[in-house]
Amino acid sequence: MWVEVVLGAAVLFLLWQVLKKPSDLPPGRWGLPLVGYVPLPFKSLEDHLRDLYKKHGSIYIWRMGVHIMVFLHDQKMAREAFTSTDFIDRPPWQIFCLGEKSPKGVVGSNGLLWQNNRRFALRQLRDLGMGKSKLVAAVHTQAAMMVEEIKKQAGRPARLPHAMSVAVVNIVWQMVGNIQFKVTDPKFVEFRECVELLMDSMKNLAIFDLLPWLGKILPRPILNRICHLDLVENAKEKFFAYFKEVIAEHKKTLDRDNPRDLIDAYLTEMEKENPDSTCSERDLCFLIFDLFNAGSLTTRDTTVWMIFYLANYPRVQEKLQRELDEVLPRGTLPNLEDKPRLPYTEAVVHELLRITSLAALGAQHVATRDTEIGGYTIPKGSIISNVISEIHRDTRHWDNPDDFLPERWITAEGKFSAKKAGFMPFGVGKRQCVGEGLARMEVFMFTVALFQAFTFTPPPGKQMDLRPDTGNAIGHNPRLKQEVVAMVRP
Ligand code: HEM
Repeated sequence: MWVEVVLGAAVLFLLWQVLKKPSDLPPGRWGLPLVGYVPLPFKSLEDHLRDLYKKHGSIYIWRMGVHIMVFLHDQKMAREAFTSTDFIDRPPWQIFCLGEKSPKGVVGSNGLLWQNNRRFALRQLRDLGMGKSKLVAAVHTQAAMMVEEIKKQAGRPARLPHAMSVAVVNIVWQMVGNIQFKVTDPKFVEFRECVELLMDSMKNLAIFDLLPWLGKILPRPILNRICHLDLVENAKEKFFAYFKEVIAEHKKTLDRDNPRDLIDAYLTEMEKENPDSTCSERDLCFLIFDLFNAGSLTTRDTTVWMIFYLANYPRVQEKLQRELDEVLPRGTLPNLEDKPRLPYTEAVVHELLRITSLAALGAQHVATRDTEIGGYTIPKGSIISNVISEIHRDTRHWDNPDDFLPERWITAEGKFSAKKAGFMPFGVGKRQCVGEGLARMEVFMFTVALFQAFTFTPPPGKQMDLRPDTGNAIGHNPRLKQEVVAMVRP
């Protein structure tokens, strides 16, 4: 009898030794092998993270499925981690690979292919984008189109129009393929449906990424039903078929000395003899997809947030309009050189990016080797996220962080000052957002155009609902289905 008890206790002790969290890891939730710590479903992911931060401080882990997830709430740690090559890679997740054996494009790729594509995309954005007349002109055109479409619903409560999506997609199309669609163009409707199908089906991929062993035990039809692997594959191929048509058109009229857009530049690059080249037509399709995926709805949602916030904060809206009226003749959109004359507008844009934290948890990185953050061991393969939304509310950097206060960006001399340590809406470090400059330009121009033309208010007797939509666990999207009133300014 005693022998069995001792043996049983020894087995339990050994099991506990094997299953317990190694002591050199950051504190946090460990749970069971294969499934990790399964959270209570009635709380949002962000509320869970807030609880963990209160309990453990600026760095903690949460084993989700088979992965050790490391969360950083401290801007210094986030900067240190994401400027280090130890955390430069994306995890080999379906959400980044979209069914490819080795991910392509720029958002999900790693190594030489990522380096080449990132450099290429940044160069294109610089050459075709920032400050260049063609893209500024496209942003002006799209801003004017947006204003015209909103005028059609002026004076009554209504949802913001579909034209806002058309505008941002058109700006990416201008840069990528020298194309712009009309709001009613059936090709555009088809394209938008394709984007929506892919975005919708991608949500369930996270289940597969956290529990990859499901692939070994479930028959394919059931796996597809749960994780939507087949839907993503179909949507992706539909998307790519469309890109291939546009690429084929470009090939017919390619002038290597006068690239019109990113596709021309990539095709020219592809023809060069370069032993380090990673170019391929499939990679180009991925790159285009990444720019749409990362660069269209993000700027639309930021502009929607701007309208909803300023509708609830009439004092800020009036002050912004006063500055616009003083500096720019009504109906004139600024060029980038006008920015220094619009410090309050700049401040409003920055404060909005801070308080809304669209990319609330950034994009995941993976540790490429056993390494350290904040004195803790981070094993190779751990997934790292910086909790941007909480860094943007950290009282070490922000007084009254829950207040929408553009004045915090204005110096005693009345100048705009962008330097704030705890500000990172576009991420930080080696994978910082490639489209930051373009996004800033779009949001700035759209803000000027919209608030020159309209005063926005909530519907009578209501306030705009400024809570993020619950449909996205890792980002802060506005609740698009609510109505707002646009009054044409006299
Ligand atoms: C308000 C709008 C935007 C926000 C808040 C935003 C935010 C971000 C964030 C947080 C990341 C992840 C950084 C990391 O991995 O640590 C990112 C990556 C990226 N963004 Fe943006 N972004 C915006 C607009 C755009 C636009 C307009 C484009 C391009 C047209 C773009 C292209 C990209 C790309 C390609 C990456 C991946 C970079 C890489 O992995 O090397 N983004 N963005």
